[in-house]
Amino acid sequence: MASYLLGIDVSTTGSKAVLIDANGRVVRTATNPHPLHTPRPAWSEQDPADWWRASAASIRTVLQTSGVSPDQIAGVGLTGQMHGLVLLDAEGRVLRPAILWNDQRTAAECAEITETVGAEQVLRITGNPVLPGFTAPKIIWVRLREPEVFRQTAKFLLPKDYVRYRLTGAFVSDVSDASGTSLFDVGARNWSDEMLQALGIPREWVPEVTESPEVSARVSAEGARETGLLEGTPVVSGAGDNAAAAVGTGIVRPGRVLLSLGTSGVLFAPLDAYRPEPQGRLHAFCHAVPGQWHLMGVMLSAAGSLQWYHDALAEDVPFDQLVAEAGTVPPGAEGLFFLPYLSGERTPYPDPDARGAFIGLSLRHRRPHLTRAVLEGVAFGLRDSLDLMTALGLEIRRVRAAGGGTRSPVWRQILADVLNTELATTDATEGAAYGAALLAGVGAGVFASVQDAAEIAVKEVDCVQPGPDAGLYAVAHAQYRSLYPALAPEFRKIARLAESQAAATQA
Ligand code: XUL
Repeated sequence: MASYLLGIDVSTTGSKAVLIDANGRVVRTATNPHPLHTPRPAWSEQDPADWWRASAASIRTVLQTSGVSPDQIAGVGLTGQMHGLVLLDAEGRVLRPAILWNDQRTAAECAEITETVGAEQVLRITGNPVLPGFTAPKIIWVRLREPEVFRQTAKFLLPKDYVRYRLTGAFVSDVSDASGTSLFDVGARNWSDEMLQALGIPREWVPEVTESPEVSARVSAEGARETGLLEGTPVVSGAGDNAAAAVGTGIVRPGRVLLSLGTSGVLFAPLDAYRPEPQGRLHAFCHAVPGQWHLMGVMLSAAGSLQWYHDALAEDVPFDQLVAEAGTVPPGAEGLFFLPYLSGERTPYPDPDARGAFIGLSLRHRRPHLTRAVLEGVAFGLRDSLDLMTALGLEIRRVRAAGGGTRSPVWRQILADVLNTELATTDATEGAAYGAALLAGVGAGVFASVQDAAEIAVKEVDCVQPGPDAGLYAVAHAQYRSLYPALAPEFRKIARLAESQAAATQA
């Protein structure tokens, strides 16, 4: 009987299910959206119940519309937005809305953790500084601001792991996702007792961790009832969305880099040994490939910047038209720059107070210039991450692009020019969910290893060469780089001003 594999991606915008066959061919996909709540500036929350509802609905749809029967599903793999905090009580009930990866409320808690443990110690143990997006500072925030919730807490989970809990009843995470909690010994691929103790977080709260392709649990009777899957279907540990997207685009060995242009923008470089960036400016996390790690630059608002720009300023213009218009104005947008720090930034400036800006506006500028500046600003931010990687001596032989943003030929060319590198795209267009399905295939024994799965399933289909504008962009990037340092002190003052204005409005 033919084997099929299912990948589920619990992303910020929705939950997607991808059903593939044993050759990696996509049979069906379905996505159901879930709302994002921003109850205060810089806050970003979702209801875990929405993730489960959307995930279960997407699974039901792919099963019902594909003609594949549940007993043909050899395995399920989970992936999702990283870092989000889900707190559960002893009965497994969700205690408050999940606090997400792009939430910026915890600057003070990051400083407190860094002071308690020591900056060097944190970097030594976790491979990274404590950043507002990460999970531990969110737990400390809850302890300080919502002591009643903290008192009732018995477990914490990451977003995809909450969906696993509903699907199987098991509390399990994987090494790549756990890497982004600030509680994980990334070199040892296990929880850090040192960090947990220093922060007063009980060991019983953390889920068990396994390597990404390992079978973590099986679909429970209740999970089966709600999704249509068969009780007992194996569910592999899976991976954070970036590691899963890397698997799904064949970024499974050093020398290859993934450029992922979703809400966030990511450059992801696998390593065959644990080698954190000495100052922690790039994230150093475990890869979903056992025995590999990766370095990663994360820009918080990449395609998210274009989405914001569209919604705020060009709502009636279809995306494709908007982006195509940008191709009608010259590179550099006639002196217009856009800083994409709409929800603060991580790489290369870990600054929750950073904000977006158009700089250099003149009477000449029309909508296509503004659009082009947004596309270029995102590309410049990604170039900053690439420069950090090359400064570490990483040999980058191939960059593959993935994510909704890279569907636009105009944006792809801008990226190839600004990064000054060939940019390949693959036939794997279903992103992280596809990688999760491949991981499920490894756990279910359909593929011999993660590398084998990627080799069988992923092929390059297109490659954009850097063109004549690369030189102009090198100069423009140098100008772009000087803008954040000049504005950082003002961003800080503006953030405090916005806080006091929000407080006055609420009073
Ligand atoms: C990675 C990160 C984002 C989210 C987006 O560190 O925060 O890429 O995982 O889904």
